[in-house]
Amino acid sequence: MSKARYTRAQLERDSRTPLVTPRVFARGVQVTDDAVWVWVQIPSASSFLLEEPDIETATWRTAQAMAGLLPAGAEYHLKVVWARHEPESYVASWDQVHSVRAPGADNYIAVGTERIARNAREGHFRRRVVLLGVRWREADLLPDVGAAGSIGTAGRRAGRVFRAKLREQMWSQRQLHRDARSRLDFVMPAVERWFEQAANCELRATPAPASLIAWSFAREIRRANVTVPSDEALAGPVLVDLAQGSVDPRESPRYVVVTDLKTGERRFVSILVPATNGFPVSELEIPGGEWLEILTEFDGRVEASVRGVNHGQAESIALLDAGRKLTRSQAREASAQGAQVPLEIVDADDTLNMRRREVQRRLDVLTTNHARWVVDAGSPDELEDLIAAVRHRYTGIVQLEVARNLQDLLWRELLPGDKVRVPAFGQDQPMRTLAGSWFHGGSAVGDDTGPYLGANLGSTPGPVQCHIVSRAETDRTRPTSVSFTGMSGAGKSTAVSLAILGALAEGAWSLLVDPKGDLRGILRVAEQLLRVPVQAVDVTDQRCSGIMDPMRFTATADDARGLTLDAMLGALSADDRRRGEVLLEHAIDSVLRDFPQPVWSAQAVIGELMSTPDTQPDHLIARALGRTLSLRAKQAQLRAVLGPLAENSLPLMTGRGLVYLGLAGLDLPRHNPDPDKWTVTERCSITTFRMALSYGLQQSRNVRALKKLVALTELHLITGYPEGKAFVEWLARTGRALQVWLLLDTQAAHDLAQLTGLTEQLVMSFAFRAVSTAEQDAQAALLGRPEPGPRLRQMQRSLSTGQCIMRDRNGRLAPVQFDRLTQWIANALSTDAAEDTADATSTPTAEDAGPVDAAEHQGRRP
Ligand SMILES: Nc1ncnc2c1ncn2[C@@H]1O[C@H](COP(=O)(O)OP(=O)(O)OP(=O)(O)O)[C@@H](O)[C@H]1O
Ligand SMILES: [Mg+2]
Repeated sequence: MSKARYTRAQLERDSRTPLVTPRVFARGVQVTDDAVWVWVQIPSASSFLLEEPDIETATWRTAQAMAGLLPAGAEYHLKVVWARHEPESYVASWDQVHSVRAPGADNYIAVGTERIARNAREGHFRRRVVLLGVRWREADLLPDVGAAGSIGTAGRRAGRVFRAKLREQMWSQRQLHRDARSRLDFVMPAVERWFEQAANCELRATPAPASLIAWSFAREIRRANVTVPSDEALAGPVLVDLAQGSVDPRESPRYVVVTDLKTGERRFVSILVPATNGFPVSELEIPGGEWLEILTEFDGRVEASVRGVNHGQAESIALLDAGRKLTRSQAREASAQGAQVPLEIVDADDTLNMRRREVQRRLDVLTTNHARWVVDAGSPDELEDLIAAVRHRYTGIVQLEVARNLQDLLWRELLPGDKVRVPAFGQDQPMRTLAGSWFHGGSAVGDDTGPYLGANLGSTPGPVQCHIVSRAETDRTRPTSVSFTGMSGAGKSTAVSLAILGALAEGAWSLLVDPKGDLRGILRVAEQLLRVPVQAVDVTDQRCSGIMDPMRFTATADDARGLTLDAMLGALSADDRRRGEVLLEHAIDSVLRDFPQPVWSAQAVIGELMSTPDTQPDHLIARALGRTLSLRAKQAQLRAVLGPLAENSLPLMTGRGLVYLGLAGLDLPRHNPDPDKWTVTERCSITTFRMALSYGLQQSRNVRALKKLVALTELHLITGYPEGKAFVEWLARTGRALQVWLLLDTQAAHDLAQLTGLTEQLVMSFAFRAVSTAEQDAQAALLGRPEPGPRLRQMQRSLSTGQCIMRDRNGRLAPVQFDRLTQWIANALSTDAAEDTADATSTPTAEDAGPVDAAEHQGRRP
């Protein structure tokens, strides 16, 4: 292709030709008068936290996928544009949650919607739209239309324009429309096959909805918030209406002024191009060279458009050989003159040779790309500042410049269905330069439905939704545990509380076990915002005596036997345990065997021990143990487990709503992991803690046909010693069997990751700040990345309070900031005594908790 031949005169004539006229937009297709373009939408990947080698591998894979997907010789057009985040879609997503909601669910949804709207308004949430179009070959149908090649000869183009004009004069609009329709029908079968290929390749692309293609067209013409009807196909007056904008290049050689004729709003748009040799000759660095992913850093004010051609294998080799011929003759010339062959010629020759080998082995292919950066501002000054910032950010990646006096032509190139009008800045590059731009790179995480959790802090910033208690068909076979790990004060329990509120909103039964007693505030939020029933149970309360007796609450004799032995041994000293184990087992066994189930109880076992007949060996020891346990059962810290059942004891609530199980009066051993060194009250406390967890979980058996969630906090208090470890393993397994979602909150990721089979029981994982290598390693294992690289570690280290790395049910990772929704909720959930100043008079909605205060992370790779 000769760039020189393309003179300014030709350019000028080009600029007088009418704008491309789309006739029909249908699902995945745009029909203009001289072409059919097929369009797919490319979803954001979850590449933000991938390590360098993984990014590199994925880049090669993507390049190969694109080489296969983009037909050789056909023009393609890649558009990266920003759309508004519509909070309405959050409200609409709740329609897909079919369970009975909490009476105050609408308040909850409204508060989330308000937060999303605010974050969108302030530029924290942006929706990136990536469209990839291919000019379809319809040569068989329209022999007069050049099949491919971005730059036909001027003569051919003139002929085409002439014919188009003629056709326009001869045909009525209606005929044109009918013509467009029949061309659409003609190409569709082949296009559908191509869509299938696009969906199955690395890019996972889907046909772009008609409204989206039309939108991307209209917004170039108006640069405003255009709303497009979401019809199956768009044509006729709707399109005319959408295209109500004007473009004026006369104000400056450096920009065009785009006016939305409906509102009169003027935007100043400058299109940047890579300087000749703006891209490095050899390779772009990865990471850092993701030249389209970094658009995120400009708050949605910089977009991109890349038109290009995939040369295919044969043509690529021909082009490379032509290039090599040139470098060789240059080299010969230099040496003939006795001079040393210049280094850049040697380099260029090496690169060409390497590319040729790659193309031959089908690892890559050659393309010609015309990349454009679209900078948009409200005033010329703002525009210049932004241009400077963009050029600066791209230093060392791609050298960018404003092409003077060509802005109107460059602007036209942005329109879907148009073509390259200024070929001078084209770059011959391997496909992986485009693949490695990571135009699809991002930080996608979470679900399409479910409660709004907070902000995505990665390169595709937006609201994160997460449907923890999902009963969707595809989720039924998944495990049900979710881990929350990280340092003290990192925000785990707050996140757990927020997750519980979400589950309550969709009508779940939730139980929260709170060893520290600092999570009580959630009761107020559940009651006042969601208006669900709540029940608070404090384990040291007299009325709780005996309610956590495993002889009573377990469902089977086997469970009763195991847990009761566990509880009683836990209450005893090391010496007593050693001599009494078998005796305890006997006593439990005889109660289970000889007594009717309604009278099974720990008290009965103790009675059995104390009344061991003289005829039995070791009867003295047995009676002594019975007396000890009888005494222990009076301890406030153990009464709930071994004590007699209180007369006025309350059964736990089993309907929709929140049960809060407070363990505040317990004296849990916090610093000594060796059970032999625990005091009596510490031993009693830890036993009650364990039984409370299992009691909480077992209670879910009584909850029928509801979504069930049990949150267990401060698990590090028991995972440091063997019995506690085994116990948590058992909890996770049982949770799944009972179809209960289990939220596991612990400061010791290391302990959790060591538990046998626990990682397999996790459906999701939230890793809050961690600084020690051991904790980071363990978190990484729980995140499904057993060998963390520097990127993940850096992120783990630098998270602020309330921020975490989330692993969703599909194994995708991204940094996320939990959103406390309103100041009132933030105060209510606060675990710092000083901060808890919420007074009962403030309202549960309205106020704000400040925007997402995460700017330092947003969009930037760790
Ligand atoms: N998402 C958030 N946004 C802003 N601040 C938060 C967030 N989450 C927590 N905080 C602040 O951090 C404090 C501690 O949070 P939290 O109690 O959840 O930490 P934790 O990880 O559970 O700590 P510990 O392991 O000691 O229990 C909260 O009281 C609150 O002030
Ligand atoms: Mg906590």
